[in-house]
Amino acid sequence: MKKISYRLWVQMLLLIGITLGLLWVLQVVMLEQYYLYSQTRNIKQEGIALAKAYEEGMNEELLTEKAEELNLKFNAGVEIYSINGERVFGFSLMPMMMGRAVYKQEVFLEAAKGEAIVRQLKHNRLNSNILLVGIPIGEGPEIKGVMIVGAPLAAIKETKEIIKEQLFIITVILILISLLLTYYSSKAFTKPILKINEAAAKMAKGNLSVRVDVESSDELGMLSDTINNLSAQLQKIEQLRKDLIANVSHEFRTPLSLIKGYAETIRDVTGDMKEKRNSQLSIILEETDRLKSLVDDTLNLSQIQSEDFRPDMVPFDIFATVNSIMSRFAHMSEEKGITLDMQWDKASVVVLGDEPRIEQVIYNFVNNAFNHTASGGWIKISISTNEDNVKIEVSDNGHGIPSEELPYIWDRFYKASKDDKGKGLGLSIAKEIMEAHNSSYGVESIPEVGTTFWFTLLKA
Ligand SMILES: Nc1ncnc2c1ncn2[C@@H]1O[C@H](COP(=O)(O)OP(=O)(O)OP(=O)(O)O)[C@@H](O)[C@H]1O
Ligand SMILES: [Mg+2]
Repeated sequence: MKKISYRLWVQMLLLIGITLGLLWVLQVVMLEQYYLYSQTRNIKQEGIALAKAYEEGMNEELLTEKAEELNLKFNAGVEIYSINGERVFGFSLMPMMMGRAVYKQEVFLEAAKGEAIVRQLKHNRLNSNILLVGIPIGEGPEIKGVMIVGAPLAAIKETKEIIKEQLFIITVILILISLLLTYYSSKAFTKPILKINEAAAKMAKGNLSVRVDVESSDELGMLSDTINNLSAQLQKIEQLRKDLIANVSHEFRTPLSLIKGYAETIRDVTGDMKEKRNSQLSIILEETDRLKSLVDDTLNLSQIQSEDFRPDMVPFDIFATVNSIMSRFAHMSEEKGITLDMQWDKASVVVLGDEPRIEQVIYNFVNNAFNHTASGGWIKISISTNEDNVKIEVSDNGHGIPSEELPYIWDRFYKASKDDKGKGLGLSIAKEIMEAHNSSYGVESIPEVGTTFWFTLLKA
């Protein structure tokens, strides 16, 4: 494993390397050239100014003063020759600086042509280089003479050695600092990562109650928040799963024990008593049906609840749907002596939705109404429209739901009365379908007066 600290260190070394490399090139390699360049430029500039002043008739006293200035600045000597080679002025604390006569002559001849020139030459005795600058006095054919400025070039080698030494010390110090910095910063950086990793590993092993306490406002803090969120969500899902298993097994227990009990009775006792046996067999069949419908509804619910359930939205006529439900309940209506009516403000309304699912919602509402309304009562399905929505209501004049029960009726396996024949799944299935449709929905109920379930659909 390549550690983060290692990578950080390599990057820091790279930065140090580049910085020092640049310094090295500028200071050591280019120093000499730069020094020569700036020295030449400065001496030339001041020399030309002085030559000009001399040409314009500067007196000897002032000239000496200026030459002295040059000497102080550049350690330079100044000589002025007339055009026929006669020396008319000289200022040099170290005459040797001016170099050998041959060179001087060469510079004189060149400059006399009218252009300022620069020569660099080696001084044997001083063992250092000398810069000779020749400047013509006057212009064109009227050149009156030549001024020669000579200055020693400082020993750059020594300076270079000093800089090298300093750079070496800086390099060592920087490498040490980078080691310390990477050590501490990578430690501070990896510590929360290790914490988060540890928590995630625990979660992977099934311990969902872990929490990461990284209190920083950066990306790592964000990651730890996400992990904490994840653990909370997983805990919730785990709780739901446990509840579901507990509920399902509870619901299955009663029919299963009934089936087992009657099957045993038939085997041991009533096997040959045709009438008793048949009535017990019908109970077994009824309970098997109930089990089957429990399994179907549970599967149905978990399918609708799954992440990737999307209602298949198509336009359809809600009247046709309600009519088909009415005919499915016609028999029950007659049998129970409960009237089933339909009411509308506009015939034929096309809505947008998953038709079979919407039919299931209304079916569940009507089915509940039949289960909780006494003989002689009524059930009404009404359809009303406004600009964009269609509201579907299923009302009954049954025994109603106590207000303290109302918040729970949508819960899975919730039944208001324990000996209710239902499975407690109808309303949770309806709720999931309506939420998948983004419908608004609700219930109003007054005990002993009646109940109304309603929901809305978008007009197509
Ligand atoms: N119209 C109604 N009048 C009175 N109580 C109702 C009405 N509709 C629902 N309830 C109450 O709400 C509970 C939950 O209804 P839900 O449809 O979810 O379950 P269920 O009818 O008991 O079983 P099933 O899964 O077979 O539909 C019912 O058990 C009942 O107590
Ligand atoms: Mg129901």
